[in-house]
Amino acid sequence: MLRGKNILLGVCGSIAAYKAASLIRLLTKEKANVQVIMTPDAKSFISPLTLSTLSGNPVLSRYFDAETGVWNEHVKLALWADYILIAPASANTLAKFANGLCDNLLSAIYLSARCPVYVSPAMDLDMWAHKSTQNNIRKLKSFGNIVIPPGTGELASGLVGEGRMAEPEDILAFLQNASSERSFPLLGKKALVTAGPTFEPIDPVRFIGNHSSGKMGYAIAETLQSLGAEVTLISGPCAIPIPEKVAFISVSTANEMLESCLQQFPSADITVMSAAVADYRPKEISLEKIKKKTDTITIELEKTTDILAILGAQKSTQQILVGFALETHNEVENAKDKLVRKNLDFIVLNSLQDEGAGFAGDQNKISILTKHGEEIIFDLKSKQEVALDICQKIIELTS
Ligand code: CTP
Repeated sequence: MLRGKNILLGVCGSIAAYKAASLIRLLTKEKANVQVIMTPDAKSFISPLTLSTLSGNPVLSRYFDAETGVWNEHVKLALWADYILIAPASANTLAKFANGLCDNLLSAIYLSARCPVYVSPAMDLDMWAHKSTQNNIRKLKSFGNIVIPPGTGELASGLVGEGRMAEPEDILAFLQNASSERSFPLLGKKALVTAGPTFEPIDPVRFIGNHSSGKMGYAIAETLQSLGAEVTLISGPCAIPIPEKVAFISVSTANEMLESCLQQFPSADITVMSAAVADYRPKEISLEKIKKKTDTITIELEKTTDILAILGAQKSTQQILVGFALETHNEVENAKDKLVRKNLDFIVLNSLQDEGAGFAGDQNKISILTKHGEEIIFDLKSKQEVALDICQKIIELTS
């Protein structure tokens, strides 16, 4: 999971700096790209040559390298990193980070970072236990930084206690877990998606259908899967490829979709109903092909079951239920009514008054209305990007 990730490893002045060498070995074995930044004091504990050889990249320490004449741009380095890991993190560097000091390349990178920052403290037990250090640790946590707890054992001073830097294997495991949570925030969740039209038969060769292509629902199923969810896609007749790694159930009529949904829904943590289910079906289905004997013909239609409303009525408080509304007028009002009536967590509104929104194309323009009264209007985007916006909202609700 760290393959191809850019990891900026900050090494501070601490006896534990020697462990940075094995940490780099472990990270490069995982095929991560490692860029080491050393604080000036760290060089007294381990040679930059060792770390540059192991990482395969020159070790940086200063803003400006007098020998090569290269200016090390802290902002570029910070933006390059997918993760910043400080191991060992000395009490001094932690204090600088916590208080916004910026007197070396590493602290300037820290202040410019937008990616997750992990610190693995290493110091003597009393330094670690000191209120000042603990205050800084609390501050860093409040900034969203992740503190890899130090271990307990014999310290360089000869004292025994808490303060040893975590072992490189443990730091790697920490990073791997966090990166899988970050990349697969829906891991362990079951998702159910409906997509496409339904076809309601009139006779053996004719049906009532609609123009739904299924593209939006398929993109949602694919995105949920890529975010770690175990996805079941219940689809009406569509002519597009089935997304990989999703359980696929093919249905034709509203009734078949209802039956499949009723089977799948109880175990689904997340349900997204994007299918364009027929609202009416022929009351009688002719067993034989209807011949054109008369100039006009009347087909009596009856309502289909509103699948979403049935699921909304069964929904538990742990389940997330998302519906769609395709509207041509009084859009927000109608969508809000469906949101409440069908007991949804949020509804995705497509207005046919918005150019580019709707069934056929590869783009869509949506608004999300939540049960808490939020109304988020999105730009016209590809259906894949729209799917991601919808899934981000789902992730917000699951976390
Ligand atoms: N839906 C459903 N079963 C139906 C009809 C609709 O599950 N028989 C779902 C759709 O998948 C969508 C939502 O209900 O998520 C809204 O569908 P829409 O057709 O816009 O709304 P309706 O409630 O059918 O209302 P109306 O047709 O009057 O606009």
